[in-house]
Amino acid sequence: MRKINIAIVGLGNIGSYLYKYLRKNKQILAKKNNCIPNIIYLSAKNKNRNRGFKINNKQWVKNYLDVIKKKEVDLIIELIGGSEGPAKKLVFNALKNKKHVVTANKALISKYGDQLSQIAEKNRVNLEFEAAVCGGVPIIRSLKESLIANKINKVYGIFNGTSNYILSLMDEENKSFNEVLIKAQKKGYAESNPTSDLSGEDVAAKLKILSSLCFNSFLNKNIHVEGIKDIDKDDINYAKKLGYKIKLLGYAELIGKNILQRVHPTLIRDSSYVGSIDGVLNAVIIDGNPVGQSIIQGEGAGPAATTSALISDISSILRGNIKFPFSISNKERKNLNFQQISERYFSAYFRFNVIDRPGVLSNITKVFSRNKVSIKRLVQDPNKNNNSSSIIIITHHSKDKSLNKIIQTINKRPYIKRRSKLIRIADE
Ligand SMILES: NC(=O)c1ccc[n+]([C@@H]2O[C@H](COP(=O)([O-])OP(=O)(O)OC[C@H]3O[C@@H](n4cnc5c(N)ncnc54)[C@H](OP(=O)(O)O)[C@@H]3O)[C@@H](O)[C@H]2O)c1
Repeated sequence: MRKINIAIVGLGNIGSYLYKYLRKNKQILAKKNNCIPNIIYLSAKNKNRNRGFKINNKQWVKNYLDVIKKKEVDLIIELIGGSEGPAKKLVFNALKNKKHVVTANKALISKYGDQLSQIAEKNRVNLEFEAAVCGGVPIIRSLKESLIANKINKVYGIFNGTSNYILSLMDEENKSFNEVLIKAQKKGYAESNPTSDLSGEDVAAKLKILSSLCFNSFLNKNIHVEGIKDIDKDDINYAKKLGYKIKLLGYAELIGKNILQRVHPTLIRDSSYVGSIDGVLNAVIIDGNPVGQSIIQGEGAGPAATTSALISDISSILRGNIKFPFSISNKERKNLNFQQISERYFSAYFRFNVIDRPGVLSNITKVFSRNKVSIKRLVQDPNKNNNSSSIIIITHHSKDKSLNKIIQTINKRPYIKRRSKLIRIADE
């Protein structure tokens, strides 16, 4: 039987799990793919770190870059992480030296995917990154293979398990953002530095990769990104009373010939499909023709789900064939213009925390009408203890530019006690 010689570089959370899985399942994978996945080298920073398995001297490569020089290596699996430094050096040089590459590194692919894909195509090797987007949700291969027939207009969903867990728990347990974040860190769902999860940057990296695959375009760096750090439990509670949940959603859509990529907290009907996805789960929804709507849901991260995705990539390489990393040749990929979010129409949720006195409500509604934004629903929630009131307004569809102008204007008024909130509402 044919075999492919493999080097794994990076033996942390993911690399260690993958190595153990491959060792245990070598035979069955060989049978399924008619080719043996043969691990010959391992590398990481520190050989003596306890990883729960022994590494013999023959397998260990001290300088990770040396795996590239070894003629017998066919496939390098990069599991170091980060868009710069060792991961970047390893993947660029591996492809230049005609080695196949599998990586779980969304930071690297969302930043350098176009250049890497050009090198892979020129050198006729594979560059696979299923594990870089939503771990156990097999969306990349679905787009490249199972959904190949479709013209896709929109891809959206929940792409970050940490923020979904935090928002779900704030909703279920009526707890503050910080209380829930600490719990998420204790349970291992949020990293000790969760910045990129909470700022929306993690979702943005995944969305750039997905939209490029969906729209046959180069990676588009223009993306509107807002995270969940400013969502507080009052917003969650008001949303709930109005029949919504707040989710951090990523959207990439074609508007005419332009692309709009956006990541922001969104109110979505609690009875909708996405509204029902709670905890650490991810879900990706594709709107395509002829398929219609297609949904894939699953564990977004963690060593087990990520290994499932890595094995799919490794198996694809074991089976042979050279594929274009972004589904079509780089010669056919397009540069799409970016549409500004300010021009798109949304229904929106506003929350104003005001001094409770006559005239305030009419002043607020005047600002709405001056900006030609019509109000669909208004709820006033007075708090007698501190002479304040919360005013919640749901609008009809209006230009994002106008919605933001309202917030800027009203935030300057003397009756405002706390920074006002604007959260867009999903069309779905
Ligand atoms: N964790 C997840 O749930 C998840 C999910 C999807 C995708 N990913 C992606 O998977 C990749 C790996 O993540 P991880 O959680 O496994 O990270 P990790 O636990 O921090 O492991 C990183 C590994 O890289 C090695 N390394 C660091 N610098 C190195 C260098 N200069 N030379 C050689 N090796 C070096 C480390 O070596 P030592 O062990 O010797 O320190 C370690 O084994 C990242 O791209 C991440 O975004 C992770």
